[in-house]
Amino acid sequence: FLVLYWLYIFPVYRLPDEKEIVPEVLRQQGRVWRRNLSAAAEFRKLLKDCCDPSHLFAMTKQNSPVGKRVWYDGEFLYYNTIDNETFSLFPKVIPFQLPLKRCHVVGNGGILKNSRCGKQIDQADFVMRCNLPPLSNAYSNDVGSKSQLVTANPSIINKRFQNLLWSRKTFVDKVKVYNQSYIYMPAFTMKTGTELSLRVYYTLTDVGAKQKVIFANPNFLRDIGKFWKSKGIHAKRLSTGLFLVSAALALCEEVTIYGFWPFSMDLHGRYISHHYYDNILPDTGFHAMPEEFLQLWLLHKRGVLRMQLERCE
Ligand code: CTP
Repeated sequence: FLVLYWLYIFPVYRLPDEKEIVPEVLRQQGRVWRRNLSAAAEFRKLLKDCCDPSHLFAMTKQNSPVGKRVWYDGEFLYYNTIDNETFSLFPKVIPFQLPLKRCHVVGNGGILKNSRCGKQIDQADFVMRCNLPPLSNAYSNDVGSKSQLVTANPSIINKRFQNLLWSRKTFVDKVKVYNQSYIYMPAFTMKTGTELSLRVYYTLTDVGAKQKVIFANPNFLRDIGKFWKSKGIHAKRLSTGLFLVSAALALCEEVTIYGFWPFSMDLHGRYISHHYYDNILPDTGFHAMPEEFLQLWLLHKRGVLRMQLERCE
């Protein structure tokens, strides 16, 4: 009885792997994919009801007035009270013209390497990318160069740019590749990330950079997490990619996703790297990317979004 009770509380999940997924994907690839406008509208409504992305995607003067307590979504017991200084950094409302039209969300999967999808990705009205990915000429053929929104976790600023404590020039130069993009930072996920995110903000505004920092609203991140949990994604935290796809499904009329394939072989049995730019694997036990993939795949099959897995010619 105790074992059954244990399994009920902490169920053991077997994550799907490519051996199960590839045949299913190949079967479906043979069919003509069609966008299903009513299914997309239905899903948009679900996201609107749970998470109100058009108002809560980012911290704004409207949703985060001075004096508001903002609870960190990655830590219990800590909150930040919005003061005049922080408030002055928020845009009045979400700074995009909504609804966005054609959005492409680009994950960092190794499936993009040699995909020749760059041109196709750049044809979108709005391109979203994850975690300040490399976009140099060496990759543009496969991943494009356009970017309207790119996420940056404070941990990246720590690892790659020494918390911006020393020279900030390298950082300012590196982000030039994102042109006029918004840099979307989860400043209120962990207490330690707030100061770092504000530093990124000031670094870029002080030099008059074209990129603008906006901060993720932790209530939005928390609600999106709950939404997917209710659909069976069991992970400590959702991946950045799934957050972005969820936001895109709510904010955009059409969504296509690239680079979402958390498996070690492609559809034709060829080994691929984890990222299109390196093969550093994610920490285990943090995300549940194969489960996330299955949910995205279901949305592809229902015509809610289109997932590009093959090369683009
Ligand atoms: N991704 C994927 N398949 C891969 C690699 C990445 O589907 N082989 C998606 C995931 O949704 C991921 C996103 O692309 O969130 C960005 O990739 P990456 O920068 O590697 O994200 P992580 O560092 O693993 O983590 P996080 O999601 O916490 O930012």
